[in-house]
Amino acid sequence: MEIRDATDADWPAIYPFFSAIVEAGETYAFPLGLTSDEAKGWWMESAPGRTVVAVADGVVWGSAKMGPNRPGRGAHIGTGSFMVDPAAQGRGVGRALAGEVIEWSRAAGFAGIQFNAVVETNRGAVHLWRSLGFEVLATVPEAFDSAAHGRVGLHVMYKKL
Ligand SMILES: CC(C)(COP(=O)(O)OP(=O)(O)OC[C@H]1O[C@@H](n2cnc3c(N)ncnc32)[C@H](O)[C@@H]1OP(=O)(O)O)[C@@H](O)C(=O)NCCC(=O)NCCS
Repeated sequence: MEIRDATDADWPAIYPFFSAIVEAGETYAFPLGLTSDEAKGWWMESAPGRTVVAVADGVVWGSAKMGPNRPGRGAHIGTGSFMVDPAAQGRGVGRALAGEVIEWSRAAGFAGIQFNAVVETNRGAVHLWRSLGFEVLATVPEAFDSAAHGRVGLHVMYKKL
């Protein structure tokens, strides 16, 4: 599997799983019902941020975005977001994307990586981030309206680099 910078030409492959994941209502608080053009603005980063894709056999199976969590005097802490096509989840794509985000963030000089809103019932993601050295700093109670579980907490997770 190759992880490389995403281009505009990759977006038609990303949008279907972006949309499926957001509309499923379990992991992300992006606006609902985004058109392809609208969603592209939320996902495709430009410098100083970056969006990558994970590609195998010519197929885009996942994507991640990364960059400063805050501008200006908060810009030394990075952040990241991850989406793997539901058809390919559980096969190591997410772990590979996370490794890329950590290594890129370290090389770019970020002091740490903050995940702002990890849904507490998203057990796969919480397990993956913990295994990579992220800790839960706090949980904002009932901050996410899960389609299946109702209002659940959002973890702020952090890894020092
Ligand atoms: C979370 C996500 C990025 C993980 O990517 P993935 O390719 O499915 O995960 P991987 O195959 O790399 O698995 C990594 C680890 O997480 C575990 N895992 C993944 N999904 C899981 C699930 N649903 N339940 C339990 N564990 C899970 C795997 O067992 C694996 O652990 P291990 O290496 O100790 O065996 C992906 O499932 C996804 O895009 N989910 C929807 C969007 C989302 O939740 N994004 C993250 C928001 S914080």
